[in-house]
Amino acid sequence: MKLGSSARHSWDEDSARVMGDRVMGKSGRSATSSETGWDSTLYEESFGIITEFGAGVVELLAPRPGERIVDLGCGTGGLTARIAAAGTDVLGIDSSEAMIARARELYPELRFEVARGEDFAVEEPVDAVFSSAALHWMWPPEAVAASVAKALKPGGRFVAEMGGKGNIATIIGAICQALAEEGIPRERVRNPWYFPSIGEYGSLLEGAGFEVLLMQLFDRPTPLDDCPNGIADWLRMFGGTFLEAVPDTRREHVQERVNELTRPLLKREGRWVADYRRLRFTAVKLPIADGCSDSG
Ligand code: BEZ
Repeated sequence: MKLGSSARHSWDEDSARVMGDRVMGKSGRSATSSETGWDSTLYEESFGIITEFGAGVVELLAPRPGERIVDLGCGTGGLTARIAAAGTDVLGIDSSEAMIARARELYPELRFEVARGEDFAVEEPVDAVFSSAALHWMWPPEAVAASVAKALKPGGRFVAEMGGKGNIATIIGAICQALAEEGIPRERVRNPWYFPSIGEYGSLLEGAGFEVLLMQLFDRPTPLDDCPNGIADWLRMFGGTFLEAVPDTRREHVQERVNELTRPLLKREGRWVADYRRLRFTAVKLPIADGCSDSG
């Protein structure tokens, strides 16, 4: 497989530097890529629930022995390993060097490569492309869909789950308010995430040559039991680009302010629960372009 590399969305470069003790990996280790700032140890230890939720998407994929599959945005490889356990030939790809390094350590028998969804390429077309909790970081989405379509055999399936329209709306609203309170103008704020609606993403996939067989948008309240400082901890892991306009000296304050603003809605009975919303779909690559359907 031929693969490109680099990252559009830089993960939180400051997360390792400003990390409080409690959310720092339980082992005290921190595997941070200087290129992406992604802390693979923190991700594994504090956000393992994301891999657990992804198991349902593997079920939807229904991998069969002998199939060739790409796991797009594989992170530290937990779901790649589940797909491999079905007897498939799977390749995990991720734009984060730290994530891929950790995946190789954890699963030395599997194949992992640093590559971006926007421009990855495979030498031989594959039976399926799978993705869990990753597509919302990749931009532009049209380029991602085009790369996936190119990587698939005709009739090959694209099975994925990502943040959908309305995902983490409470958190985003609070971040925007906290940044406004800091006097940071809107044009200096970059929202790093893409959370499409069914209509938007379905059309995008159709435009890329897919037939959409199933697409669901649903709430997935996500407990943050390994983030004792709630949304402030979550932001240390994921909020990098959004908070990059905040001077270092104010960042801790802004994270705490976002915590304060979200607490009434997201802390229930002593437990922090993030307002995730998922877009889940199965699409297949049409065997040929549908050029005869309209008489005109
Ligand atoms: C999500 O999985 O929905 C998500 C994770 C991190 C940042 C933004 C969204």
